[in-house]
Amino acid sequence: MEFQQCVSIIGAGPAGFALAADLLSHGKNVLLYSHPTHLRHANSVREKGCLQASGAMEGFADIPITTDMTEVIAFSQVVFLTVPSTGQETIIQEMKGYDLRQHILIAVPGNLLSLIKDAHMEVGNILETNLSPYSCRMEEGQLLVLGRKKRIMIAALRNDHPSGNSAGPGFRDVIQDLFPGVRLGWCSSVVEVCLSNINGVFHPLMLLMNAGRIESTGGDFLLYRDGLTPAVAAAMLGVDQVRLEIGAALGLQLESTLDVSNACYDQAFTSLVTLAQRSPPHNRLRAPAGFENRNISEDVPDVLVPWCALAGALGVDASPIAAVIVLAEMATGESFMETGRNLRKLQLDTVTRRELVARFSPPTTQHESRL
Ligand SMILES: NC(=O)c1ccc[n+]([C@@H]2O[C@H](COP(=O)([O-])OP(=O)(O)OC[C@H]3O[C@@H](n4cnc5c(N)ncnc54)[C@H](OP(=O)(O)O)[C@@H]3O)[C@@H](O)[C@H]2O)c1
Repeated sequence: MEFQQCVSIIGAGPAGFALAADLLSHGKNVLLYSHPTHLRHANSVREKGCLQASGAMEGFADIPITTDMTEVIAFSQVVFLTVPSTGQETIIQEMKGYDLRQHILIAVPGNLLSLIKDAHMEVGNILETNLSPYSCRMEEGQLLVLGRKKRIMIAALRNDHPSGNSAGPGFRDVIQDLFPGVRLGWCSSVVEVCLSNINGVFHPLMLLMNAGRIESTGGDFLLYRDGLTPAVAAAMLGVDQVRLEIGAALGLQLESTLDVSNACYDQAFTSLVTLAQRSPPHNRLRAPAGFENRNISEDVPDVLVPWCALAGALGVDASPIAAVIVLAEMATGESFMETGRNLRKLQLDTVTRRELVARFSPPTTQHESRL
């Protein structure tokens, strides 16, 4: 049996359940881990007896769920991490006692997990994606899949796999087999992947610029369709420009946020506003009920803070991104610059600009098309 025939998934939220159901329907064996103090969705599914999916994924799935880390690590050498990046360190601490030298860890999304000190356990390989393959929500054990992405970006620490089977398919084919229906765009490094997490452009500004409306209506409006108006889009383009300049300073030709989103869903929108109004995976999404939401608590510290820190180290003016971070700090009382994935947390605080460029620029001779 191929080693990737069994797949463990750590993180029992909508993204983890959608991946589990998708892999099951593609003939894989799956085991889903829910952290013992984060059992909300797992308990609802258990009460119903199975997962019910609707939207872009239809039907019922009987998904084995465990709270036992030993079981999940023994089950498979392939372990997906589908917790928000704010939960990754909790999970990494729990995995530290295990021998993971034959395991592949795939963080969906990664948000530079493989650079943080705590993740430096001995593991076969770590891969990071920019986004989840599914746009999905979950309520009372029911999964609603609003959209399935056609392309996501990925990078690995090393380009080999620990199965020891050199006669097996190539490493990228092995990984591609774990993402049904999604084309993987291979990036030169996890930094390029993190810079391609366009949630950093969309989410924090959409919440901050609609904060009054969210709090006064309890989120009773459509987040993109009603909340991504021309002024909000203009602010997003300011953040996006800095993101592109950070990429350029590293020799990366990043796509605009609009282009990344269009590639995700095979769309061809010409502005963020028309995308917000007409894109089916976006224009039905309800606003969150309150301002406390991972669109801020995850995307500011673990996406915008590393972008801002990298910009500083590369001599790029990041004031539009810094402004969003400061506004988020004032609105929440959190110190995201301090608690987020800053250069110290990413172990890049003593690295010179020249070293940063050397480490995260694409090797020109090995340039490969990502399409
Ligand atoms: N869903 C989407 O459409 C979508 C789209 C793009 C990207 N993503 C990204 O994909 C990831 C997973 O998304 P999701 O919607 O499945 O997330 P989620 O429901 O917020 O979280 C997934 C699971 O992780 C648990 N968790 C949260 N913090 C934890 C911690 N400190 N330790 C252990 N477990 C913890 C959650 O428990 P609780 O229920 O107790 O919080 C939940 O069971 C996120 O990074 C998200 O930004 C999702």
